[in-house]
Parts: sequence; C-alpha cells; structure tokens
Amino acid sequence: MKDSFGREINYLRISLTDRCNLRCRYCMPERGISKFSHEEMLTLEEIYEITKAFVDLGINKIRFTGGEPLTRKGIVDLISKVSKLEGVKDLAMTTNGILLKEYAKELKKAGLNRVNISLDTLDEDKYNLITRGGKLKCVLEGIEEAKSVGLTPIKINTVLIGGFNDDEIESLVKLTEKDEIDLRFIELMPIGEAANWAKEKFISNDIILEKVRELTPTPREDISSPAVYYRLPNGKGKVGIINPISCKFCANCNRVRLTSRGQLKLCLHSNNEIDIKEALRSGQDIKKLILNSIYKKEESHHLEDGEYIKRNMNQIGG
Ligand code: GTP
Ligand code: 5AD
Ligand code: SF4
Repeated sequence: MKDSFGREINYLRISLTDRCNLRCRYCMPERGISKFSHEEMLTLEEIYEITKAFVDLGINKIRFTGGEPLTRKGIVDLISKVSKLEGVKDLAMTTNGILLKEYAKELKKAGLNRVNISLDTLDEDKYNLITRGGKLKCVLEGIEEAKSVGLTPIKINTVLIGGFNDDEIESLVKLTEKDEIDLRFIELMPIGEAANWAKEKFISNDIILEKVRELTPTPREDISSPAVYYRLPNGKGKVGIINPISCKFCANCNRVRLTSRGQLKLCLHSNNEIDIKEALRSGQDIKKLILNSIYKKEESHHLEDGEYIKRNMNQIGG
C-alpha cells in the first residue's frame, strides 16, 4: 500500500482502549477523563475485521497500544486471531508493564512476538509520582517475565522530563550494558490536556550524548524507525533516541494509527481523522476507504506553530 508520496505503508498501530491503570502526568489528566459509551468503541470483532482488511492490503507489522492494552478484556483471543492472519510478520505491543507479569506467558503463547515497555525512572518514589500511583516493582517483574518467556527483543521507552529524570540518564543507559534490552529516550511532546505541563518540562535529547560520551552510533537497521541508535562499548543492548517533534523520519514514515473509537489517524501530529467505524457499521467497503485515506497521508507534520495535538496521548497510543 503506497501513499501519494510513494511511501510504503506497512505498519498499523491499534489503540485497544483509552483506559489505563496508570495516570502518567504527561499523558492523562488526573481525573475527569471523558467517559464514552461502549457503543462508541470498536468491538473486538470489529477490530479484527478492520485489521484483516489492512493486512489484506499489505500491512505486515501490527502493534497494540492503549491507554493500556492489557486492560482490554479479550486481548489474548484477539492476539491469537491476528497472529494467525497470513501476512503478519511482526506482532508487538506497547505496554506500561504493570500487568505483564500476569499476562506475558499467555501473550507469547497467543502469538505476540515482542513488547515495548514504558518506564521513565528506576526510583520507586519517582515512579509513583510520575504515574500517579504506579508500583515500580510490578513493571520490573513484568520485564523479567517478558524476558523469560521470550517476548523479545524488549525495548524500554523513557520519556525525558526536565528536572525529573535527567539525573538518571547514566543509570538508565547502563541497563543496556549487560542485558539485551534497548532503551529509547523520547522527547516530551505537548499533547492533549497536559500540553502546557509538557512544554515546561521539555528538554532536548541532545543532553544524552553530552552526558554519556561513550555512546557510539550503530548502523541504521530500519529506516522507518523513529529511533536513531547508539551503543555503549560492549553494550549488549542499544540506546535509542527519538525526537518526535523535530521528526526527521517523516520522509520514511510507514505507519498509520487506529484509535479505539475506530478513527484512522494518518499522522501522529495531525488532528485529521477518518471514521472507519462508521463506514464498517454502515456496510461500506472499508478496503476502498482505507486505500483512499492512505493516499491522503500528510507529507510531514501538519500542525501550525503553536498548535498541538488535541487528543490526549492515551487516546492515540503513541
Ligand atoms: P518499534 O517497532 O519497536 O520500533 O516500535 P515503535 O517505536 O514504532 O513503537 P512505540 O510504541 O514504542 O513508540 C515509541 C514512540 O515513538 C512513540 O511514543 C512516539 O513518541 C514515537 N513515535 C512513534 N511513531 C511516531 C510517528 O509516526 N511520529 C512521531 N513523531 N513519533 C512517533
Ligand atoms: N510525549 C512523549 N511520549 C509520550 N508517551 C506518552 N505520552 C507522551 C508524550 N506526551 C509515550 C509513552 C509510551 C509511548 C507509546 O508514548 O511513554 O512509551
Ligand atoms: Fe497509561 Fe501509557 Fe498514558 Fe502512562 S503513558 S497514563 S501508562 S497510557
């Protein structure tokens, strides 16, 4: 499936739910998440049907995100069905890891290949603070379990937050020394209701290479990945740097997103959405709609200066 700029679109990110068992300060407001009825959400059958249409059209990489995808009931069955679709080469999930200890084995058995885990600090109290109540121990145990059942390669996503975790850069990088874990620093994006907070705490990823001088670039394996990778001397894992705002990877972008309410988002940084759910429910040809939509994918960032993404991150899934 090619867009109008000749980019091959082969990666679908599916947000299974807006809900989350954490409340990270840069992602969700503390309370007052707008509730919506079950009717508004895609059912698991609808998600499967839409996914199948995408796979028939050439999608071969699928990632389940959230909110927290593991809070969606029925996820293991869905993974099991999607993993059996011919054409799916990479089936992954981005999770906060809280429920991973419990689910890892089942997920692997159902056909999930690997997980990316969000973790912004290695300090118990700071973790509790940034996630508004999360327990670091659960995530660390989740990572261990994911490793032991082979949900690998494991990537840890760390959002860099000024005055919060910039003092932990060295210790986070160290995680890649002895373990085959990749750790990726993501610059804080001003998104949704936490946009102003994020603007205050933003620091540039440049600080990582300034602080850890031993990091050396590694050859680029996947040109459509938003991360640029480095390695410690003899490090087993890699250190990735993701600058989602300066977004140097738009020219190689290969992805589109489906929200849990069935909206297709062609670019993370755009407020344009196409209603796939409505089309499906009213019996339209969704493959045709998908193909036409992909053709409208923006060349690069679509937001004017000062504008920001209106939805909260938990509704988009990263
Ligand atoms: P891999 O397949 O393991 O490389 O995963 P991924 O990087 O595609 O997925 P993940 O959910 O771990 O995403 C990590 C972060 O990368 C997201 O939270 C975003 O911050 C950033 N990112 C991913 N895709 C895009 C994109 O299309 N545009 C921008 N600007 N940032 C993105
Ligand atoms: N800026 C940068 N990254 C964010 N994430 C969530 N909200 C933001 C934000 N405002 C990250 C999560 C997760 C990934 C999918 O997106 O930490 O790892
Ligand atoms: Fe939940 Fe992830 Fe948002 Fe944190 S960043 S509140 S874990 S969806």
